[in-house]
Amino acid sequence: MEIVVTNNSITKISCDTLIIHIFKGVVEQNEYTKLIDNALSGHISNIISENSDCSKYGETTIIHTFGILNAKHVVLLGMGEKESLSIDKIRALSGIVARVIKKIHSISIAMIPCDLVTEKNDIQKIAQALLEGVILGMYQFNYYKTNKPENADIRTLFLIENDANNASFLKKGIHNAAIISEKVNLARDLVNHPAQYMTPTKMAICAQEIAQLSNVEFSVLEKEDMEKENMHALLAVTRGSVQPPKMIVIKYMGDRTSKQITAFVGKGVTFDSGGISIKPSLNMGEMKSDMAGGAAVLGAMAAIGKLKPQINIIGLIPCTENMPDGNAFKPGDVIYSMSGKTIEIITTDAEGRLILADAITYANKLGATQIIDIATLTGACVVALGNVASGLITNNSTLCQQVLHAAEDAGEKMWELPNFPEYKEQLKGTIADLKNSGGRMAGAITAGSFIEEFVENTPWVHIDIAGTAYIEKEEGYKVKGATGVATRTLIQLALNISQHDS
Ligand code: BES
Ligand code: MN
Ligand code: ZN
Repeated sequence: MEIVVTNNSITKISCDTLIIHIFKGVVEQNEYTKLIDNALSGHISNIISENSDCSKYGETTIIHTFGILNAKHVVLLGMGEKESLSIDKIRALSGIVARVIKKIHSISIAMIPCDLVTEKNDIQKIAQALLEGVILGMYQFNYYKTNKPENADIRTLFLIENDANNASFLKKGIHNAAIISEKVNLARDLVNHPAQYMTPTKMAICAQEIAQLSNVEFSVLEKEDMEKENMHALLAVTRGSVQPPKMIVIKYMGDRTSKQITAFVGKGVTFDSGGISIKPSLNMGEMKSDMAGGAAVLGAMAAIGKLKPQINIIGLIPCTENMPDGNAFKPGDVIYSMSGKTIEIITTDAEGRLILADAITYANKLGATQIIDIATLTGACVVALGNVASGLITNNSTLCQQVLHAAEDAGEKMWELPNFPEYKEQLKGTIADLKNSGGRMAGAITAGSFIEEFVENTPWVHIDIAGTAYIEKEEGYKVKGATGVATRTLIQLALNISQHDS
């Protein structure tokens, strides 16, 4: 998609669709709407007075201009109340618009970002959100369709801006948005591929390609390397699978003067059948998405390599399948972890925390000074927060606040769950140090608390994306299937930390 920042007049611009923002309860129209309204002999005012619903948040009204304007259609986009217009709403609205105009086969559209500027929302952020919304909202996963839907993607996006100073900020926003949303869509692709294709081996191949394109270092630990490192928790999970495990390591060193290293650790279970503690068959196919944490880390590292913030980051993705087999690990088994702690297996379906335990011990070994792990970890988190918010657990409130701020900046909802020491009681092993499940009560918290046992004293935040990584129906800029959640938060966190330090 080509993005053109233009100072062309709104009435002259030649495109398929021009987007006009309609705010709720605003009687006096702004200059842009007035110009178009006049050109269309008052049609827009008529529509607004006949149907005030057209200003409702997310409402779209398509008007054909029959050659009166150079734009073939005008779409009135209902914005809701101006005061409550957030950056994330702008992103969601442009996602909705992107899909609506696809239906009318528009391949060139024009938008007016400066129309959305308020005290809270500056032009750079607005432009970034508009473009992210369009690219994320248009996303479709057609890899396996033999009869691919006709390609009616937007080819040109005009952003009308008359002020040269504004235009330069706008361009910065566009630059960031193009990189970030492309990498979110990359994370979505990785998750949407079926498990039969997206095996640990394939993930490692993709990671290598992605690393090359983004100029970040790539390496991988093979099964033999894991044996040498005593990663017995990860190795236990992998035993039931014919697919060899891979520990993907991606390094981005953007600040050689600093010893600080942030580790992003993403769960990469390419298929979670539950293992011997097998899951019910209903919707089991969705467990191809159990590597969404790993996908978010890959997407984020790819973007970070392009955006080049001044910060050091290691991305670690332990990849394996969790399958039942004669050789699989069993409930009742006691396994070692890389840390030396022993774990009694209550259920082989609590596998994510096992592979994360070893990956986190390894992150510490590589010198991580702070750790963020991202995982589709518990059904309990889905019960607690639905598909609206991801759940956080931490041992360090400063880092947790940084993650929450980054999430807010990126427009991803995250919510901290309490990490009271009392929860540890549920994890005490009978014949080993720890149990891998603390039972049903507070399941999302005890899962995080289990991981905490392996972080030593490194500041750490755990993000449970079980409810947010994969959705059943489209909403705003999110489409059905993989959402690419947490990719944007991780990127934003890297950018925020880098600004903070310099
Ligand atoms: N991958 C699942 C968690 C999950 C559930 C992700 C629903 C996405 C949607 C995880 O490995 C799992 O099976 N967790 C168990 C843990 C329990 C057995 C302690 C769960 O939540 O049921
Ligand atoms: Mn599981
Ligand atoms: Zn799992």
